[in-house]
Amino acid sequence: MKLLLIGGGGREHALAWKLSQSPLTEHIYIAPGNAGTATEPKCSNIPIAVNQIDKIIDFIQSHDIQLVIVGPEEPLVLGIKDACEKINIKCFGPCKEASQLEGSKSFAKDFMKKYGIPTAGYETFSDYANASHYIKNRDYPLVIKADGLAAGKGVIISNSVIEAEKVISQIFKEQRFGAAGNKVVIEEFLEGEELSYIAIVKDQKILPLASSQDHKRRDDLDQGPNTGGMGAYSPAPLLDEDLNNYVIKNVMEKTAYGLKQEKIPYHGFLYAGLMIGKDNKPKVLEFNCRLGDPETQPIMMRMKSDLLETILSTFDKNMMPLTIEWTDESAVGVVMASKNYPEDYLKGQSIFGLQGANNASTKVFHAGTKVHNKEIVTDGGRVLCVTSLGPTLKAAQQLAYKTVESIKWDSSFYRKDIGVRGLKKD
Ligand code: AMP
Ligand code: GLY
Repeated sequence: MKLLLIGGGGREHALAWKLSQSPLTEHIYIAPGNAGTATEPKCSNIPIAVNQIDKIIDFIQSHDIQLVIVGPEEPLVLGIKDACEKINIKCFGPCKEASQLEGSKSFAKDFMKKYGIPTAGYETFSDYANASHYIKNRDYPLVIKADGLAAGKGVIISNSVIEAEKVISQIFKEQRFGAAGNKVVIEEFLEGEELSYIAIVKDQKILPLASSQDHKRRDDLDQGPNTGGMGAYSPAPLLDEDLNNYVIKNVMEKTAYGLKQEKIPYHGFLYAGLMIGKDNKPKVLEFNCRLGDPETQPIMMRMKSDLLETILSTFDKNMMPLTIEWTDESAVGVVMASKNYPEDYLKGQSIFGLQGANNASTKVFHAGTKVHNKEIVTDGGRVLCVTSLGPTLKAAQQLAYKTVESIKWDSSFYRKDIGVRGLKKD
């Protein structure tokens, strides 16, 4: 079967790597892919950006694509699933309406409130005056979120009314987030530990993936600015059986029920970003209508089942399996980034040490890379995610860092403590 995989990050390299191992896969086109996806067996990149829906549809029709798998949120929010359905092509990823769970924070918050899904208290505003009045008498820190997609930069934690006032003014008066900031959600700051809960959801059927946690802050000891994620590990020792049952019942099942009540179909990955409080109870920070990056990299390393077979089974009402098989081993993925990420960073720097870096327990997944003059060079903030499997979390961490230390480019940096939170719990 010929597949089209949409996206060009570390998540998509991990998906391409895993999908290429399926005997059912004939060829995978990746739009636009990266230097890593280009080298996987049965894979080739195509120069189409993830938001070029019309070009994607043309490509599907002219290349006999039978299944589309979507990595990032943007094409989902733009309606790639709906466009594929119009031409009768299978697309794994939720429709435009369902993708609002990620594409509109106010939609997600109102949905959670309506269906009793635990989340932080909030208010929504669509003008400067009311928002500015509201922030005056709140407890701080306070969390301000642009309603729409903002490339991971739309959440700002303010420590004082002065800071919050500045943010509100930037959003409404200076259009800091463009149309994505036409509305803001202002919510209570939650304390605790973050956990990524990801499942395959097909309407009322919920098939959880292996547990995972990522490290969002850029610097060691969870300091510095929030990023898309500087590393991740699976399984997450934080998710014990009680917590898992609680999340299934109070987050995933309630979400599936709510979608049914709203007559919104769901078919794809659903990611609940959770904050686990001191009482070991979760609150939903956000929903994503896709897999996490870098969580996907360690999750794919641990998946024993055939990913393509699993995805295909969700298109058949009666075939969706009840479980997915995972290795008991742990996996740790360490992101190697370019200095100054998530702010401006240099691109086009030659990467050294990639040759021979992959082995039976370690895989270097590419994110922001491309081939230039036959050389692999940096092309993004997050450049690589070095992911290792080991009999324990500690062993996996050591293996990943051993390879990380052998790769470098002029402005490379990485966190030295990926997995440490899991080790504390273990
Ligand atoms: P979101 O895109 O809503 O998940 O927010 C991105 C990141 O901001 C989360 O992963 C958290 O680290 C942080 N965050 C979001 N909402 C809150 C909150 N209510 N309290 C504390 N941190 C939050
Ligand atoms: N790692 C967090 C995300 O993918 O949103």
